[in-house]
Amino acid sequence: MNSNVLSLPRLTLEHPLNRILRAKHEARDNNVSLYEVHWNADFWGLNLVLVFEKLGAEKKSKIVSLLSHSLIQEAYFIEKGAMLMMSKFAVEAKFAEERALFSIFAAEEAKHFLALKPFYIDSEQAGELNGFLSEMAKISSEASPRCAIYILQVILEGWGLWHYKALAAATTNECLKKIFEEIIHDEASHHGAGVMIGRHNENEFLHLPLQREISGYLKNLLRMIRIGPVRVFTALSSEVPSLSYEEIKGILIQLNSKEVVVSQLEIIARLIGQGPVPKIFIDSIQDLLVAPSVDEMASALEFLFQNKSSAVE
Ligand SMILES: [Fe+2]
Ligand SMILES: [Fe+2]
Repeated sequence: MNSNVLSLPRLTLEHPLNRILRAKHEARDNNVSLYEVHWNADFWGLNLVLVFEKLGAEKKSKIVSLLSHSLIQEAYFIEKGAMLMMSKFAVEAKFAEERALFSIFAAEEAKHFLALKPFYIDSEQAGELNGFLSEMAKISSEASPRCAIYILQVILEGWGLWHYKALAAATTNECLKKIFEEIIHDEASHHGAGVMIGRHNENEFLHLPLQREISGYLKNLLRMIRIGPVRVFTALSSEVPSLSYEEIKGILIQLNSKEVVVSQLEIIARLIGQGPVPKIFIDSIQDLLVAPSVDEMASALEFLFQNKSSAVE
């Protein structure tokens, strides 16, 4: 993975360039402390999880705080990576207006990054903490330009719209709510531009090697969705280290995970349909668009967390 994609270091607050940046982008007056909780336990459905409900107040609040921080971290790195990708798309543009549009989008991603920056005061190393961010960094650094437009603009920006809407609706922080609402407004046009570029260059996108490349990345993303609520299990396992298979299965049922995965796969299927896709392509990923059973999800999660704990030992 190209380490610069997400781990680009930050200047010190006193650096003179920050003065110019502040003049160009007025930061909101938000007094945020690290690990402040911006989404309650109910947002994750944890109020329905028996293992969680049996924990003491301190452990519960640690789990909710970890989850809240994980969402902020993810959004921060998405916007940080998006700045680079929009600039790359501007460099690679085939028409002057396309370059102008991607330059405007890059500036919007910079605004999103700067708006979220005060909420994230942790390490700039994101890759190992979140599989989705690692995959995004891989696409950004390794995918061909057209493949990156399809996966990042059509699929992930479309997915991001749905995700950010949920975050904006449920956050307990009014400042963050406004930030996400502004981001959603911009992301809608980023996604729309990706769809349009796909439609206007259909022959190029239907080229078999490009379809194979797109399909490879899409399969990785679909596998991540199918495994279920990894983020919730990661946070839970920090306070409940050894969950049994039966406990994992129970939690999945209490969280209604199968239905959640079904609706998430439906969203991806709709987004795929917005791009130029031949039937052979849909056929190649059809199996992954069907949600797994709760037993399959429980086995995959048990395997994942067994491997994680043996890697730590
Ligand atoms: Fe953005
Ligand atoms: Fe965007």
